[in-house]
Formats: sequence, C-alpha cells, structure tokens
Amino acid sequence: MSDARPGTEPDTGGEPVEARPPFDTLGGEGSVRSLVDRFYDLMDLELRFAGLRALHPTDLSGSRDKLFWFLCGWLGGPNHYIERFGHPRLRARHLPFAIGSAERDQWMACMVQAMQEEGIEAAMADRLQAAFQGTADWMRNRPD
Ligand code: HEM
Repeated sequence: MSDARPGTEPDTGGEPVEARPPFDTLGGEGSVRSLVDRFYDLMDLELRFAGLRALHPTDLSGSRDKLFWFLCGWLGGPNHYIERFGHPRLRARHLPFAIGSAERDQWMACMVQAMQEEGIEAAMADRLQAAFQGTADWMRNRPD
C-alpha cells in the first residue's frame, strides 16, 4: 500500500468507487479542518505524542494548513494541496524526518484519538484508520 486514497480505487483509474466520497460523508471542509485542528491540538497537549511533536516546527499553523489541504483531496474532495504544491510526493517530503515504527504509531494513535473526539462514525473511522495506516507505514524511512 502506498498513497492509496480512501475515496478512490486504482483499478478504476482513480474514479470514486462510491457515489459519495468520504469528504462529503464527513461533512466537507469544515469537518476536515476540525479533524486536523484536533489532531494537532492533541499532538501539542498529550505527553505520549511528545516525540512526534518534537519533529514538527514550534508554530504548527503551516503544518495544520498543509495537512488540511492534503486531506481534502485524499478524502475525495477539492485538490487544494496539489493546486499549491503539485504532486504530494509524501514519502519524499517526509525524508528529512527520522520516522520509524514509534513515530508511525504515535501519528496513528494521535489521528485515531482525533477521529474519536470529533465523533466520526465508527465504520467511517475504521475505514479511514486502515487507509491512514497504509500511508503512515509507507512513510517509515529508518530501521527500528
Ligand atoms: C508516519 C508518521 C508521520 C510523521 C512522524 C510525520 C511527520 C511530519 C512532519 C514533521 C512534517 C513537517 C511539518 C511541517 O513542515 O510543518 C510533516 C508534513 C506533512 N505530513 Fe506527515 N508525518 C507522518 C505521517 C503522515 C501521514 C500518514 C500523512 C497523510 C495521511 C501525512 C501528511 C503530511 C503532509 C501533507 C505534510 C506537509 C508536506 C509538505 O508540503 O511539506 N503525514 N509530517
């Protein structure tokens, strides 16, 4: 699994497999922004995410915007990130940061908690968790 998006199926040339992409089911931009803000708030607040937090800049506002723009497209909504930065090249963009299993697991735990606290419905949260897991695992760039 690499950068497979939850709203698309590679075999269909990237066409949505469902009429309704996760972006719409979640409630559009306001809901995605709220999830991203919760994710970074938790990263800032929770001691168990301190290692993950330390990899990020002091000011998280740029990180918030980028993840928000990226997730809108990844979830089947508007391609804000690609319009600004071109192809995400997500793995390459993460190479400056040492990411092993511990960092991956903190990222996932932070996102799972954010989805829970945002009240994302269980079936959707499970589906997104599986998609995030594949992407987060693919981001590892150093042996444990
Ligand atoms: C596996 C653990 C991960 C770690 C430790 C990590 C860490 C980071 C860090 C430190 C940055 C730089 C922040 C900044 O420049 O403000 C970043 C950027 C970013 N991350 Fe992650 N990340 C992880 C997983 C993910 C996943 C799973 C996604 C998407 C589903 C993602 C999406 C992004 C995006 C879109 C950016 C902005 C890239 C850019 O334009 O520079 N990250 N990440």
